[in-house]
Amino acid sequence: MLFLGIESSCDETAAALVCHGRILGHQIHRQDHRAFGGVMPQFAAREHMAFLPHVMDALWAESGCGPQDLDGIGVTAGPGLVGGLLVGILWAKGMACRWNKPLWPVHHLEAHALMARYDCDVLFPYGLLLLSGGHCVMAEVSGVHQYKILGQTYDDAAGECIDKVARALGGPYPGGPFIQQCAENGDPYAITLPIPLHKERSSSFSFSGLKTACIQWIAKNQINGPLSASTKADFCASFQRTIAETLCQRLQYAMIDSGLKHWVISGGVASNTYFRSRLHDLCHNLGGQLIAPKPEHCTDNGAMIAWAAAEYYAAGQKPDLFFPVRAHWPLDQLKPT
Ligand code: KG4
Ligand code: ZN
Repeated sequence: MLFLGIESSCDETAAALVCHGRILGHQIHRQDHRAFGGVMPQFAAREHMAFLPHVMDALWAESGCGPQDLDGIGVTAGPGLVGGLLVGILWAKGMACRWNKPLWPVHHLEAHALMARYDCDVLFPYGLLLLSGGHCVMAEVSGVHQYKILGQTYDDAAGECIDKVARALGGPYPGGPFIQQCAENGDPYAITLPIPLHKERSSSFSFSGLKTACIQWIAKNQINGPLSASTKADFCASFQRTIAETLCQRLQYAMIDSGLKHWVISGGVASNTYFRSRLHDLCHNLGGQLIAPKPEHCTDNGAMIAWAAAEYYAAGQKPDLFFPVRAHWPLDQLKPT
């Protein structure tokens, strides 16, 4: 069975082919939003429009397949930026009509959540800690389209906080890889930052307070000129440790309260090696297991959308040609058909 996945919900134009649990081809065009200091929706939509045809041509050339060979198509239908989503959806609907192929609207966060089953063969049910640029969710995954939310963020997502702090340090967008690299030679205990929701016994998150504290710390320490390389390294290492501590604390509560032993982390922030190792140690110490897709499968990609379509097909989800685009789409609104 050959499935095509198209992703255009944010700033990556990506497409991939998955066949019997193998990636036959994958193409990605990463947009450059550095000039805006964050993702500019109109620019993103125009870039998707300009680059999706090239991404598709390169995918067919790389794989030696054509649209006639497909057994199904998956396309991100939300949540995300409407302009970009529409570009992918219109392309996918056009192809499904022209070649008479079944089409599934894929939930972007669910695709992140299911990718662990591609890389690591994890069985349902499992716990999910989803850490992307705009979402921070703890959930129980009982099957395709079956989610129980255990906690989510009251305000900013971890990725958003990381991106804003990286920007305050003069770093590029997205900020995660920059922070991780700067932190490599730093002392994680050099600077004390507030651990979000330290006193709240729940699996919810909040990152806006930490974001503000970091931006204020940077402004205060930059009054007499830019931070030295070693101060920047210490700050980034301490910032990463603070985030890791809050993630570990929230996950610990979720593990105890849900009784789930297998925990998947996914989303772009889950590609961070420090977070992966801290969360791995926590799960191990509590008698559980942390399952993390390959780092390149945590950040947005087309293979996770193609794999989600394969999962939808295997679970008996009905294809649909008339679905809407959804900017907001809570995971627990999904219902199996
Ligand atoms: O899942 P994703 O690729 O896109 C969304 O669905 O939002 O996540 C993007 C987020 C950004 O905030 C980015 O800074 C963060 O993932 N990220 C990282 C790393 N790589 C990407 N955060 C921390 N460490 C990384 N190595
Ligand atoms: Zn994502």
